[in-house]
Amino acid sequence: MAKDVIIACDFSSEEETFRFLEGFRDERPYVKIGMELFYAAGPDMVRKLKKRGHQVFLDLKLHDIPNTVRKAMKVLDELGADMCNVHAAGARAMMAAASEATGGLVIGVTQLTSTSEEVMHEEILIDRPLKETVIQYALNCKDAGLKGVVCSPLEAKEVHRACGDGFLTVTPGIRLQGDARGDQKRVTTPAMARELGSDYIVVGRSITAAENPLTAYERCKREFIR
Ligand code: C5P
Repeated sequence: MAKDVIIACDFSSEEETFRFLEGFRDERPYVKIGMELFYAAGPDMVRKLKKRGHQVFLDLKLHDIPNTVRKAMKVLDELGADMCNVHAAGARAMMAAASEATGGLVIGVTQLTSTSEEVMHEEILIDRPLKETVIQYALNCKDAGLKGVVCSPLEAKEVHRACGDGFLTVTPGIRLQGDARGDQKRVTTPAMARELGSDYIVVGRSITAAENPLTAYERCKREFIR
C-alpha cells in the first residue's frame, strides 16, 4: 500500500494557499481542503489544485439524511477530488448513499481525533470504549461500500485487523516531536503512525505553522515513508 503525507491546507483564501504551496518549489504534495478553505475559496479550488498537479483530499465530512448526502456527493464528484469523506455517525444508509453517488474514493470519519474518551462518555453519552466505537464505525463503513476511515494512528492496527489491510486508514492527530498539541487529543508522531500501520497521515499545523514548512514536510516524509 502506498503511504503518503497529506498536508491539511487550513487557510482562509486561495492566495494564502498558493503562496504556501509555492514554498514547496517543484514538489506537488498531496493536499487536503477542509471546510475553511472550501467555504472561503469555493469549489474551483479543487480544480485549480488538480490542475497544478496535486492529489486532493476533500475533507467536508458530510453528515445529513441519505438523500441529501447522495445529491451533495454527486455535485462533489464533478470536481475531481481524489478522496472525499462523510461522518460515519451518519450510519450505513447515509454512507451507502454517498458511496453509490460517486465513482471516487469515499472514506468515513470515525471519532474525531479532538474527541477524548471522557468527552465521548460525558457529552455524547456513548458509554462504550472509544476504540470499540471506532472499530464498529469502521465495520459500518466497510459494509456501506466505503474504502477506508479517518481515525487516529492509535486505532489503525485494530481497524486493519477488523476490516483488512486493504482498508485505508487516513490519520490526522499528527505532531512532530516537541510541537504543541493544540485542540488535538489522540496524537502521535509520523514515525509512530508508521509503526502503527497508518496508510496516510494528515498533517496540518506541524507543517503549516512551522518556521520552514518544506523542511517540516520532508521530516514527516522521512519519518513516515522513509
Ligand atoms: O493542524 P492539525 O494537524 O491538527 O490538522 C488536522 C487536520 O485534520 C484538520 O484539518 C482537521 O480538520 C482534520 N481532521 C482531524 N480529525 C479528524 C478528521 C479530520 O483532525 N477526525
